[in-house]
Amino acid sequence: MVFHKLKDWQLHRRTLEHREANGTVGFVPTMGALHQGHRSLLERARQENDHVVLSIFVNPTQFNNPNDFAKYPSTLESDLKIAEEAGVDFVILPTREDIYPDDYRYRVMETTFSKSLCGAHRPGHFDGVLTIVMKLFGLVRPHRAYFGQKDYQQLELIRGMTKSFYLNLEIVPCPTLRETDGLAMSSRNLRLTPAQRKNAPQIARLLKSSLLENKTTDWVKAELSKSGFLVDYVEDVAVGQPPETRRFVAASLGEIRLIDNLSPSEAKDLEV
Ligand code: PAJ
Repeated sequence: MVFHKLKDWQLHRRTLEHREANGTVGFVPTMGALHQGHRSLLERARQENDHVVLSIFVNPTQFNNPNDFAKYPSTLESDLKIAEEAGVDFVILPTREDIYPDDYRYRVMETTFSKSLCGAHRPGHFDGVLTIVMKLFGLVRPHRAYFGQKDYQQLELIRGMTKSFYLNLEIVPCPTLRETDGLAMSSRNLRLTPAQRKNAPQIARLLKSSLLENKTTDWVKAELSKSGFLVDYVEDVAVGQPPETRRFVAASLGEIRLIDNLSPSEAKDLEV
């Protein structure tokens, strides 16, 4: 069932009200242009819940670059097909007016981790992410919500927000899905030229080899620059519970900014 009007969804959500009686709600928030990575989250949600909700909303407040927002891919027809194949029960397609009647006057912010890594290069990005996710949690009221480790910093911040505000739901982390050449799947990959697409798996290859061969983050930066990337950062950060050091990369090919991250134990298993 597809909800184009938020009001219709809100009415429908009430019919799922009695949590015990009507089973669990699993939720996968996305910005559309769905690929196998998104699909893996939907399938996991399908396995673990009675009802599965997918949201598709290209959230303007998390784009610090207007051009990136304007050019964000949109493939609604194929998205709805993937949703159906994955067994999604409800798709919600809110509008900007639905989500920001307050014109983004009220926001959720984190003051520390959100300022590092991607936050240092994309001012306001995580304020936009946390705000939209908080709003969607309020609208969907899921028992479980699924997030990819591809966006590890986002996942950590959403975990932290959920804990800090005593939100009554479980955040389920899901592994990064990759193309056969190692490139982390991303909606933005659709915008790479054939030459850039060929070059893009360098990020995953260098993450893997540097972790296995004890090479520094500076070495990775230099190698990426040699391959034509404009590097935002390569950094090692201890994240998660118990803390584990992961290597994080953000680098652009032309207009397209790519991110990835890997732990030493994942590096052993990664085929690139
Ligand atoms: P989007 O980029 O559409 O991603 C939606 C979800 O899919 C996120 O949890 C993301 O981590 C996950 N995902 C993306 N690529 C993946 C991959 N290759 N493997 C596994 N999971 C992957 O992330 C967002 O949207 C937005 O910031 C959102 C949370 C929806 C808020 O607007």
